[in-house]
Order: sequence, then structure tokens, then C-alpha cells
Amino acid sequence: MRLVVEDLVFAHPGAPPLLDRLSLTAVMGESVAIIGPSGSGKTTLLALVGGLLRSGGGRITLVDGERELPVRGNVSWVLQTVNVLSDRSVVDNIAVGAYADGLDREAALERARAALDAVGLAGQGHRDIRTLSGGEAQRAVIARATVSDRPVLLADEPTGQLDRDTSAAVIDTLLGAASAKITLVVTHDPAVAARCSRTLTLGGGTLTAVRP
Ligand SMILES: Nc1ncnc2c1ncn2[C@@H]1O[C@H](COP(=O)(O)OP(=O)(O)O)[C@@H](O)[C@H]1O
Ligand SMILES: [Mg+2]
Repeated sequence: MRLVVEDLVFAHPGAPPLLDRLSLTAVMGESVAIIGPSGSGKTTLLALVGGLLRSGGGRITLVDGERELPVRGNVSWVLQTVNVLSDRSVVDNIAVGAYADGLDREAALERARAALDAVGLAGQGHRDIRTLSGGEAQRAVIARATVSDRPVLLADEPTGQLDRDTSAAVIDTLLGAASAKITLVVTHDPAVAARCSRTLTLGGGTLTAVRP
């Protein structure tokens, strides 16, 4: 399976052109770090790939053998602003990632509990998610994305709110799941980029490879 972005063009309404015939191909098992200055369009690019915004031109497809699938519906998200179901427990929030794959409650909770351990939230699953710190909630969101079987994982500055040690554990979890996914990670963190298969810089509306 591969994610193919071809000649993507985009401008926010009333704003100057942001993406100018941007292209990107990422294959199953690959993790691609996307870096670039603030305002260069990294978050916008993820939103377009995930189908949250409509492009002004170009194509975004998930190619699976002979089939072409829409990316939307095959994506799990780790967003910059933590988005959780605020009236549910931590473990319920993580299980949502597995429900999306059609698992029943018990199987989903089992996966969720294993993912809790992996992000250092073992024993915290029963807590009301609203009582977690920003960094803890971000780890719960990462656990939710990794329990999903959806093939594309889009992460926007996933370690932005975490200290260095927690960040290292979270990178392990996130990229540990990457071998069975196509992962795009927007990051300012060189440690995250170093763990990805390759790094691209967004600037001037297009992506350029960064030599290691
Ligand atoms: N909904 C929006 N409407 C208008 N302009 C936007 C909107 N969202 C983002 N922008 C602008 O588009 C540019 C790229 O934003 P963004 O994709 O968030 O950049 P990055 O994630 O690289 O910091 C910025 O100049 C930002 O102000
Ligand atoms: Mg951003």
C-alpha cells in the first residue's frame, strides 16, 4: 500500500497560495518526518491528506494493489490540540481507536490496556480523561492512534507537550507502530525526525528531501 499525493494546490480562503503543486509518496512501513518553519503549511498539509480540508487541485490517494482508496476513513490522528471524549475514562478514549476497526468492547479494551502500558500510563486507565495533564492526555491520544488498524497515521507535533524522557517513550510507541502503517509526523523535534525513515522540509509550498 502507498500514499500518493500529486501536485497538491491549496490556499486558505482569502489567503495567499500556501501549497504549490506539492507531491509526496510514502509506502507501507515508512515514517516520514515533515519539518519546516511555523506557518509553512505543515498542519494544513496533514488536514488535506486526512480529508479534513478540500484541496484546490491535485490528487491524494491510497493505492492498494489495483485499488485506489480514499484516505479519509483510513486515517488515525494525533493532533496538536488534544482531542478526547471528555466525559469518558482514559481507557475508553484509547479503545475508540480499536472500535473504529470493528472490534467488540472486550477486545478493544484489551488492546487499549496494552497501549496504556506502552505510553507509561499503566494503572491510569480508569481515570477521567479530564484529570490528566496535557502531556498525559497527549500520550493517551498517541495510544489511541496506535491501537487502530487504520493504515495511515497522521501526527502533528506529537511530542510538543512532553518532557524529554516521556518524549522518548512516546516516540518508541508511535514509531513502533509505524512498521505496519504509513506514518507522517510533523515535528520540530530533531529526535523524532531522526527516528523516522526520512525527513522532508516544507517551504515555499513544496516538500524537499533533507539529507541525513
Ligand atoms: N483556517 C485558516 N484560514 C486562513 N488561514 C489559515 C487557516 N489555517 C491556517 N492558516 C494560515 O495558513 C498558514 C499555514 O498554517 P499551518 O498549516 O497551521 O502552518 P504550520 O503548521 O506549518 O505552522 C499560516 O499562515 C496560517 O496563518
Ligand atoms: Mg502546525
